[in-house]
This record gives sequence, structure tokens and C-alpha cells, in this order.
Amino acid sequence: MKINFAAPRVPRTGTVVCAVSEGRKLSPSAEQLDKDSGGAIRRAIEASRFSGKSDETLSVLAPGKLGLGRVLLVGIGKPRGGDHVVWQNRGGVLLAALNAAGEQKASVMVDSLKDREATTAAADLAFGARLRSYRFDKYRTKEKPEQKPTLKELNFLVENPKAAEREYEPLDKIADGVFFTRDLVSEPANVIYPETLAAEARTLATLGVDVEILDEKQMKKLGMGALLGVGQGSSRPSRLVVMQWKGNPKAKEKAPLAFLGKGVTFDTGGISIKGAAGMEDMKWDMGGAGVVIGLMKALAGRKAKVNVVGIAGCVENMPDGNAQRPGDIVKSMSGQTVEVINTDAEGRLVLCDALWYCQDRFKPQFMVNLATLTGAIIVALGHEHAGLFANNDELAANLTAAGKAVGEKLWRMPLDDAYDRMIDSDAADVKNIGGRDAGSITAAQFLQRFVNGVPWAHLDIAGTTWSKKDAPTVPKGATAFGVRLLDRFVADQYEGK
Ligand code: BES
Ligand code: MN
Ligand code: ZN
Repeated sequence: MKINFAAPRVPRTGTVVCAVSEGRKLSPSAEQLDKDSGGAIRRAIEASRFSGKSDETLSVLAPGKLGLGRVLLVGIGKPRGGDHVVWQNRGGVLLAALNAAGEQKASVMVDSLKDREATTAAADLAFGARLRSYRFDKYRTKEKPEQKPTLKELNFLVENPKAAEREYEPLDKIADGVFFTRDLVSEPANVIYPETLAAEARTLATLGVDVEILDEKQMKKLGMGALLGVGQGSSRPSRLVVMQWKGNPKAKEKAPLAFLGKGVTFDTGGISIKGAAGMEDMKWDMGGAGVVIGLMKALAGRKAKVNVVGIAGCVENMPDGNAQRPGDIVKSMSGQTVEVINTDAEGRLVLCDALWYCQDRFKPQFMVNLATLTGAIIVALGHEHAGLFANNDELAANLTAAGKAVGEKLWRMPLDDAYDRMIDSDAADVKNIGGRDAGSITAAQFLQRFVNGVPWAHLDIAGTTWSKKDAPTVPKGATAFGVRLLDRFVADQYEGK
């Protein structure tokens, strides 16, 4: 789908999209079309239940003598004062409506707002429309044309198209990052496994990202026994991906920002094997790594003026004759020994070595990790918020604010010594599960034992990585939850410093 910005004029082909606000109040462009069509627009509204409330749409076919095939009216509720997410959602809703109508070309009249507002609104509408247009259909070879989305060209007609385009440019790069993440997360585990996930990350080199890929031999030398233990039951060798974006070589603060992701390309549970029902979902157990890779693409794509390290711990958790057993004791890079009580609590074993490696090598300003870590976070928060755990209140507050700003919500969960004691082991320094109670918290406590005083936050995204229903800017499937949030967080807190 092509997105363009152009000066206002009434198009002669395709659908014209106009806003209508609450109380059936027509925007100037809708008013004009109504006049030109001899009142056909108003008559259509009056013959329907369309009231102009947010996210209502009304398709008016061949109104009067306009010569247009269709006018799509989009309800926007109150026209003024909507934040970015509100406008992005409107963009997503109108994109879905245009595809449902089978339209190929549409022009959105962005009027009734002051110049600056209209510019921002147009950029946000375009961003929302593009985010909603994502589709993972490469394996659907028998799909008929009428089942495919139709829209090829979407034009935003706005007073200052150049300014809108400039504002949209970085958003387009963020969408590139989001789409990359969604692709990686959607791919099945016979296509994306540690080596191929690392190879995908390597493609970011074309954007100027330094990409190193550590193999098992190198990780063994570094002492990453916890990560390697998870991968040892798989015929697919493990990898650690280290990406660096150096967008601000003159930064006063030399230490980079660090983001880390769990990249379990498939989680069978290992010897503590999962039940068959729903196990296919575990292809997206690399969602955290997918977000970190997509985030690096977004940051590099829009040439963010920051120095960022992205690390992805990539393993496949499989049961075979070489797999680790419940009760095995492994030695992590930190030197701490871990009793593996349950081989299905593998994400924390991967991340503990990645976290240690990161702070040891890069001495970052902070570390934020993302992981589809626990089913328990879904029990606690469902699919609306991701769990946020942090050892630093400022970091937690800034992440929460960024999440609010982009519509990817976080909810802070507690850390506490009393929970920490639940993962003390009789046989080793720590055990990898704490029992059924407070499962997401004991998982976070486990990670915290491998954080050495650096400000750190852990996002448990098990409930938000995959969606079973369409949302305005997120079609069902892989959401890339976290890419927009962390991009916003970086932009708000660290760019221009
Ligand atoms: N990858 C899973 C967590 C998960 C569950 C993600 C459902 C997405 C949807 C993780 O590795 C896991 O298996 N966790 C166990 C931990 C338990 C063994 C302590 C869980 O949540 O059951
Ligand atoms: Mn598991
Ligand atoms: Zn897992």
C-alpha cells in the first residue's frame, strides 16, 4: 500500500474519506461534497444510524451527480483534542473499512483543524493506517483475490502536505520496525530457529547496525552454562545476537542504553514437556527478541541520536537424549549455580546469561529486557497490560509513561526479598522456579539476581505478544508490543542529550 500526502482538492477517482463529528456535524470537506452532490450525503446519514461517534463508519455509494463511486464517512466523536493514539486508531479503523469495502484507492480529507493540528493528524492517521495494513500471508497460497486486502493507494489531503510528510517519515521507520518484528514472530519454528533468527538480525547491518553473532563455542568460553543448557536438547545450535546502533558518537554520556530479549524460537518445555493443546503458540516464545530486533530497525531506520545495544538470546527448548533434566545444576556466566527444577522455566535461564554479559561488557546506563516469560502474567493481567518489574522507580515511571503515550500499557508488579527467598535452592545458589504462587514475580526475582546494581526493568509480554482479535492499529496475530513503546521511551528520555 502506497501512502501519499497532497494538497486538498476533490479527487475524481477512488473513495473520498471525510470526518463527521458527534451530532452528525459534517467537516468542511463533507459539507462541500454534500453541496456538490445535491444533499446526497446528508440524506444518506439521515437514512442510517450513523451519528458521528468515534470509530463509526458509513459508506455512501455514488452520491448524487458527484461522479464518485463512494464517500466514506468516519465518525470522530469530538474533533479536537484527540491525542496521537486517538488519531492513529482512526487511521487504523478507516483502513479496515476501506479494505472491507473492496476499495483500491482512497483520499482522506484532513480538514476542520488548524494547520499544525491537521499536519500532525494526517501523519498519525497515516501511521495508524499503515500499522493496521500489516498481514502475514506468505504461506496462504490458495487465497482468492477477493479474500485479499484491496487498498493500493491511500492519499492524505492536507493544507501543508510537505510538513505532514516530514512528520510521517520517522513514523514510517517505526512501522518498518514493527512489521519486521511481526514477521519474525509470525514465522513458524521450522523457519525461524536460532541461526535464522540471528541471520535476520544480521540484515540490520545494511542500516548501519553493528551485528555480532556469538556461537556456542564462544558462549561456552564465556561461561554461559544456563543459556547453553536450555539449547542442548535441540539439534539447532544456540546463538547470542549483539547489535549496536551508534547514532550519537559525540554523546556526553558514553554508556549505551541496553535492550535484551528472550529468543526461545520454540518452547516445548523440554523434558518438563508441555501438553499438546496450544503448544503451537510457543513459536512466538521469541517475541522479546523479535521486539529488540525490530526496535533496532526502527531506531536505525530513523537515525535516532542515541547509542543503543540490543541483545537477543536465541535458543530452542527441545527434549532429546542430550536435553537437560530436572534437577540438573548449571553454572551461569555470573558464577552463580542454578538448579533447574523445571526445564519449562527456560526463559529466565537464557536471560540471566544475556543480562550478565550485557552489563559486564557494555556497562550500560540501564537494561530493559522483554520476555514472554510466564503464563502467570496472563492470569494476572490478561492481554491488556504487560507486566513491568523494575529495581528503579524512575525507569519504571518513564517506561509506563511511554507505554501510555503509544497505547502499549504496562502495569507495575512488585519485587521483594520475601519473594526472592522462594527461589533459594538447597542444592545450588538459586533454583529456576519458586512453585505455583506468584509465578511471574519469582521469575522476575530470578532475573534480578543477575543484575548488578544497574537500573533494570523486565517486561513480561506473554499476554501481549500475540492477539486473537483485531484492534485499530494491530491486526490479530503478532502485535510487536514493545517496539513503539521503547522507541517512544528512547525518543522522550535520551534523544537530544
Ligand atoms: N514461554 C512460557 C511462558 C508462556 C506461557 C508464554 C503462555 C506465552 C504464553 C515459559 O517458558 C513457561 O513455560 N513458563 C512456565 C513457568 C513455570 C514452569 C514455572 C509457565 O508459565 O507455566
Ligand atoms: Mn517454558
Ligand atoms: Zn518459554
